[in-house]
Amino acid sequence: MQYAHITGWGKAVPPLTLTNDDLATFMETSDEWIKSRTGISKRNISHVNTSELATVAAKHALAAAGIEGKDLDLIILATASPDTLIPNIASTVQAEIGATCGAFDINAACSGFLYGIGLASSMIKSGQNKKILVVGAERLSFYLDWSRRETAVLFGDGAGAVILEASEQEGGVLGYELNNDPDARDILKSSFGSQMNRFDTSSLDFYIQFNGQEIFKRAIQGMGSLSTKVLEKCNVSKDDVDWVIPHQANERIIDTLVSRMKIPKEKAIVNIENYGNTSAATIPIAICDALDKGLIKPGQTILSCAFGAGLTSAALLLKWGERVTPINTSDAKVPACEQTVLELIKPAVDYFFNKAQQDGR
Ligand code: ACO
Repeated sequence: MQYAHITGWGKAVPPLTLTNDDLATFMETSDEWIKSRTGISKRNISHVNTSELATVAAKHALAAAGIEGKDLDLIILATASPDTLIPNIASTVQAEIGATCGAFDINAACSGFLYGIGLASSMIKSGQNKKILVVGAERLSFYLDWSRRETAVLFGDGAGAVILEASEQEGGVLGYELNNDPDARDILKSSFGSQMNRFDTSSLDFYIQFNGQEIFKRAIQGMGSLSTKVLEKCNVSKDDVDWVIPHQANERIIDTLVSRMKIPKEKAIVNIENYGNTSAATIPIAICDALDKGLIKPGQTILSCAFGAGLTSAALLLKWGERVTPINTSDAKVPACEQTVLELIKPAVDYFFNKAQQDGR
């Protein structure tokens, strides 16, 4: 019997940080409002493409697993903000790391990384593949309308990656559940892509539109019910869960989720303060941070859950293997940016505030 274990992990965080106070220099908001309503203090804004972030994270994950790109037999890249749709950006990462295998992107929004891990674990357990790279990478700043404070303060850019390997050692991914609620497709969306109808050139403007309170409720319901389902399916009690690694969209969502599940808050890995919501990247970044801090111990049971546009949701249960330290390290990093973060985003900020004025908002 083959088990699917995480054997390598890595993240890539762009060097430019946008704090709540930076945001308050050009929009009506405050550190106090953002921090108390969301838990976020700062986020990273990327001057490089999503695939470059993904490549850096992938190189760290490969080094941590002690393998090379050529050892991989599949690459799954979860993103809703690829730098190119054709070709997929898994192929860009593949070229950079020298892999010769299948490679594809998936878009399940913020649940994408868990969809990817679930899929990869099934491929490994079926005997089809032995070493799979799964990446969650996003440059959500691409979608932001900086004049809309209700969304602009929430998101950030970044990437995280893991290597999933076949092993005879019991454990690894124990089970997963995926769901999607198509009735809620319209409560979280961007019109990006609607201009694919080239006979209708009415609008090239796109930004994230959402109903925050409705998502808030459905996120807790979706993550909660799938988490319960995966625990039951794997015959594991919630009391035996050592860590919950939830999607980081809002700290209050995480608080409500664990409180409803009657899991102590101390068991939840929360790092939204530093990154904001990086969509498909939040969970792999949180895994890296938890390992860096020495929180995850060999053999511990981890419950991870997510929700995203669709509305997708996912929950995954895993038993960590023996190794919690990297085999090797990589010196890959996101290059420095010569601009300040406010200089970088200024053209987009000016564009959207001018547009808001024209629209009478
Ligand atoms: N700064 C200051 N005031 C603000 C800001 C801001 N950035 N944003 C909104 N406000 C104001 C509103 O205008 C409103 O003012 P009013 O009372 O005068 O009308 C007031 O704050 C309260 O607004 P609410 O929308 O009721 O605030 P709420 O407490 O619901 O928090 C939030 C909003 C943070 C968006 C919350 O609903 C939320 O986190 N929702 C779900 C999370 C989410 O959707 N994340 C993105 C999902 S994407 C993904 O992960 C797939």
